[in-house]
Amino acid sequence: MNPFKYGRVVSADDFCPRPNLLKQLAGFIKSGQNVVLQGERRMGKTSLVYETVRQLKRHRMLYVDLLEIKTADDLCKRMVKALISMEQQAGLLERILKLLSQLRPVVSIDPLTGQPSVSVDAGVRLKPDSLDGILDLVRESHKRTRLVVVFDEFQDILNLVDAKETLAVLRSKVQFHKDIPYIFAGSVRNQMRTIFTDPESAFFKSAIAVDIGPLDREAFAGFLADKFALGKRVVDKDVIAKVIELAENVPGDVQELCEVIWETTAYRDTIHEDCIGPALELIYARESKGYEAALVQLTGQQVRCLVGLARMGGKAPLSAAFIQGVGITGPASIKKALNRLVQLKVVYRHEGEYKFVNPFFKTWLLWKNY
Ligand SMILES: Nc1ncnc2c1ncn2[C@@H]1O[C@H](COP(=O)(O)OP(=O)(O)OP(=O)(O)O)[C@@H](O)[C@H]1O
Ligand SMILES: [Mg+2]
Repeated sequence: MNPFKYGRVVSADDFCPRPNLLKQLAGFIKSGQNVVLQGERRMGKTSLVYETVRQLKRHRMLYVDLLEIKTADDLCKRMVKALISMEQQAGLLERILKLLSQLRPVVSIDPLTGQPSVSVDAGVRLKPDSLDGILDLVRESHKRTRLVVVFDEFQDILNLVDAKETLAVLRSKVQFHKDIPYIFAGSVRNQMRTIFTDPESAFFKSAIAVDIGPLDREAFAGFLADKFALGKRVVDKDVIAKVIELAENVPGDVQELCEVIWETTAYRDTIHEDCIGPALELIYARESKGYEAALVQLTGQQVRCLVGLARMGGKAPLSAAFIQGVGITGPASIKKALNRLVQLKVVYRHEGEYKFVNPFFKTWLLWKNY
């Protein structure tokens, strides 16, 4: 079985240790300190939280994913669902149902497991102030066994029309839950920054920032070599270094590339650098429709600019060499094209550098000789 996993939470043996971050986060959880956990996409934010709570053993996690939420109603219902699924076994269900009676919860018994499952009446619309009662329940739950409350993809709360009011309600409750650690995890840095560092925001300075970056290269390289060894594949140190470089040191992308290397090699193979090409081609076979769809949305100038980033890197796209290389007159046009590429989430800016959101889109452009 392919030991490389990507696109989902990894834990235990699938989690390459991050001892410092884990210790730091565990410390904050134990002391009830709220944390804002920020990092780029596929860096391992969700996995870090899961693994930390798993290792702590004495805490339960109330995990609420805010990805693509559209309304306060959505948020409330996701919280209720998370609470219900967490409490289902703990005998608190009856109490929750009573407290939530205004949401008209519907209980049904799963015919296979015999377990009750609860859904909230879709006809009931919840408003930001319903959050108040739900957060009281969180506290109630915490009194029984220690909780860690995780709001993942927290930046999406800004999608709500009544985002400001919702954040204010959330903040006013959370600040009284002094012993409950809340973790606000998110990917889009600028938006997360607005929530926690804008003095106008209800959440201004309310949580300690923890940044998550790439894994330690040496530790990750060792972890990956051990996984290859599970199929008696021997892999050169240089090859692993190259893989990490091609995947731009993003753990999820590194694992994706290793997954295809495994798929395109066999038991007892020695993996050399020339194994990387066929592996990348497997990624392209899976993903190139998506790359083509992205290109269709772009103007000729935007495509030239994108190819320029792939060829020359994104450190100095306004330099004379870059402008000459892409054949676009004037930095203003380049700036405009870059802004559009960021807006379309094809590239993002990290420490002043423009980088591909998907590093394999970049290698594909070069491979196709665009
Ligand atoms: N500690 C780790 N050890 C090994 N692989 C990891 C680790 N952390 C992350 N990964 C890899 O990255 C992938 C994404 O991890 P995870 O979902 O935790 O990241 P994320 O930052 O929450 O991503 P997203 O922004 O998509 O929510 C995993 O499936 C795995 O391939
Ligand atoms: Mg995540």
